[in-house]
Amino acid sequence: MERFEALRDEWLKALDEAGTESEVLELKGRYVGKKRGKIPELLQDLKDAPPEERPALGQAVNKLKNEVEAAIEGALKRVRSARTRLEPVDVTLPGLSPNLGHLHPITRVRREIEEIFISMGYAVATGPEIEDPYHNFEALNTPADHPSRDIQDTFYLKNGGLLRTQTSPVQIRTMESRKPPIKIIAPGRVFRRDDDVSHSPMFFQVEGLVVDRGITMSDLKGTLLHFYRTLFQKDVTIRFRPSYFPFTEPSAETDLSCVICSGTGCPVCKRTGWLEVGGCGMVDPAVFGFVGLDPDEYSGFAFGLGIDRMAMLKYGIDNIKYFYESDMSFLEQF
Ligand code: DAH
Repeated sequence: MERFEALRDEWLKALDEAGTESEVLELKGRYVGKKRGKIPELLQDLKDAPPEERPALGQAVNKLKNEVEAAIEGALKRVRSARTRLEPVDVTLPGLSPNLGHLHPITRVRREIEEIFISMGYAVATGPEIEDPYHNFEALNTPADHPSRDIQDTFYLKNGGLLRTQTSPVQIRTMESRKPPIKIIAPGRVFRRDDDVSHSPMFFQVEGLVVDRGITMSDLKGTLLHFYRTLFQKDVTIRFRPSYFPFTEPSAETDLSCVICSGTGCPVCKRTGWLEVGGCGMVDPAVFGFVGLDPDEYSGFAFGLGIDRMAMLKYGIDNIKYFYESDMSFLEQF
């Protein structure tokens, strides 16, 4: 019994004097640790005591154990609260700056495109990504049996809706809700059942629409030329190649002199010196019919281009999928 008293005094004193958490934890291991702790040792020793003394000795060891455990808890509380109170703070150290992200390259290019058109007096319009066939096709002069619906392999929804295959429906929605003069661009996501190095099932387009009295195709060409020169910061040229879209007449493909080789021929322009960058044309009178505008009074031009394609050309990226894989080693380069 006396030995227990002595041990208890010794241990409580040591715990009282411990100044750091690791010192306390070290003592805890030494006194009550399961493998080599003193108290478990004492409990082992009880086996050698005479049977009649065992109950009293056992009680004494348990009492000791409780006291020591309480002292350990007390000591831990003491050193932990002392630490939070006394930990020195060096206010001259530089702060911890949070890890800031940055804009996705597609977002950057979209914003650049918006800025260029805003500077020419355009407004930025938006429309729903889940469209109805009327706005995505019919009102764009593309009836259900029209062969051009096959070109844009469509994701149809069970409720009769669809994921818009183009940003052109925003043209219709704009003309339905506003009177000319109209000068808008409509950037946004579009969806097609298409998947290879230059096609992703989801990608970004910008639609442009200008409607007013006396709008001509040279307005269209001048606008696109200014746009491409500003976007690529280069003295590029463009040419119109006759083409077909149901909602424009006449229609053209815009070719841009290659921004990589300046037209001398390289793998990006397939040695032609020209890059196909988007469709355009004069708004078809049939489209004006759908939105109730008089084609004798108004004329307009429209164009569509791919933001992904612009970003690939601007940054020299040869696979559209890189934009959508969330691979940090790619994204961090921008
Ligand atoms: N919507 C067309 C497409 O996705 C692109 C386009 C072509 C838009 C000509 C236009 C246009 O506004 O006039 O293929």
